[in-house]
Amino acid sequence: MSVALSFDLLKRLSEAAGVPGREEAVRAIVVEELKPLVDELRVDKLGNVIALKKGRGGPQAPKVMLAAHMDEIGFLVKHVDEKTGFLRLEPVGGFDARVLLAQRVVVHTDSGELIGAIGSKPVHVLTDEERKKPVEIKDLFVDLGLPPEDVKAKVQIGDFVTLRQDFVRMGELVSGKALDDRVGVFVMLEAVRRLRGVEHQVDVYAVATTQEEVGLRGARVSGYGVSPDIGVALDVTIAGDVPGAQEPERVTQLGQGVALKIKDSLSISHPKLVRFLRKLAEERGIPYQLEILPRGGTDAGALQLTKEGVAAVTLSIPTRYVHTVVESAHVRDVQAAVELLTAFLERAHEADLTL
Ligand code: CO
Ligand code: ZN
Repeated sequence: MSVALSFDLLKRLSEAAGVPGREEAVRAIVVEELKPLVDELRVDKLGNVIALKKGRGGPQAPKVMLAAHMDEIGFLVKHVDEKTGFLRLEPVGGFDARVLLAQRVVVHTDSGELIGAIGSKPVHVLTDEERKKPVEIKDLFVDLGLPPEDVKAKVQIGDFVTLRQDFVRMGELVSGKALDDRVGVFVMLEAVRRLRGVEHQVDVYAVATTQEEVGLRGARVSGYGVSPDIGVALDVTIAGDVPGAQEPERVTQLGQGVALKIKDSLSISHPKLVRFLRKLAEERGIPYQLEILPRGGTDAGALQLTKEGVAAVTLSIPTRYVHTVVESAHVRDVQAAVELLTAFLERAHEADLTL
C-alpha cells in the first residue's frame, strides 16, 4: 500500500509558529484537521490536544496513545535595550547557536508579528580573538529596524520569537523549520485519516503534545489523563548520513525507511513492541531501520513512566540537520512512517505486552 500525502498540510504545520507553551497556532491546525476524523476531542490545561477514535474491541481492548509534539525550539524576549531597542533572547529548547547568526526571526507580540534579524558585528571589525570565540546565545541580539521607543511600545518581555523559514521540496526531501516535530504531527494526522477505512479494535488516542522541547511536559500530563496500555511517540531522529560523519555515528540514513527506536537517553522501547512492529513492516513490505540514539529523547520517555508504567516505543522520522532551520526528511520515510503506524493501529490488539 503506497499512499499519496498532502504536503500542503505539512507545509502549513512547518511554517506555523509555536514555541513551548505557545503552541496555539499549531493547535488550531491540529484541531481543525482532527475534529472531523475522531469521536471525541478535548484540550487539557497544558494545551495538549487529546482526540479519541474509538475501536470495535470494547472496554477490554488496549488503549493506544499516540504522541507527537506541537512545540518547536525558539526564544522568548528577555530584554529590550533602552537606548537601541535591540532585543536579547532566552532560549526555549536547544538551538545550535552556530546556525543562528544572520537568521530572520518573527517576534510575536500582542499587537502582531514583527520581522527581525539576528545581527552581529561585521566581520571586518572583529578582532582575531572575537573570530575564534564560539557563538553563544547570550551574545546574540535581534534588530527590529525600529526606533527604541517604538520597540518598547510594541514588544514585551516574554513575547515569543521563532525563526522565519519557508517549507520547500528539495529533491527527494522536504526541508524547513520545525520538522521536529511537525512531521511527527503530520504522520499522526495522516494515520488517523487513514483509519477511516480500517477496522481497528483498539481505542486510539491521538495526542498532539506541548512543551516537549523543555522536558516532555505535555506528554507527562496527557499520558496521565489518557492512561494508555501502549504509548507510541512520533518524532524525528538524527540522520547523520552526511560528509565527515563516521558510519557508526549515523544513527539513521535518509530514504531507508521509518526508524524503530530501540533506545535513546530517555526511553528503552518495549522489546516485544519493537519485534511486533518489525514483523508487521516485513509482512507489509514497509521499509524500516533500527535506531539507537545516543543523546536526546522523545515523549516516549514520559509515556513509559506514566502511572504504573506503559509499554512504549517511538517511530522516528530520520531527519538531517535537526534543531536547525533546514531540517530535512525523505518523502519515502515519511510515507513509511504513516503506513507502519496505520498498520500498527489496525493490529495493535494482537500485540503481546508481557516481558
Ligand atoms: Co527537538
Ligand atoms: Zn522532537
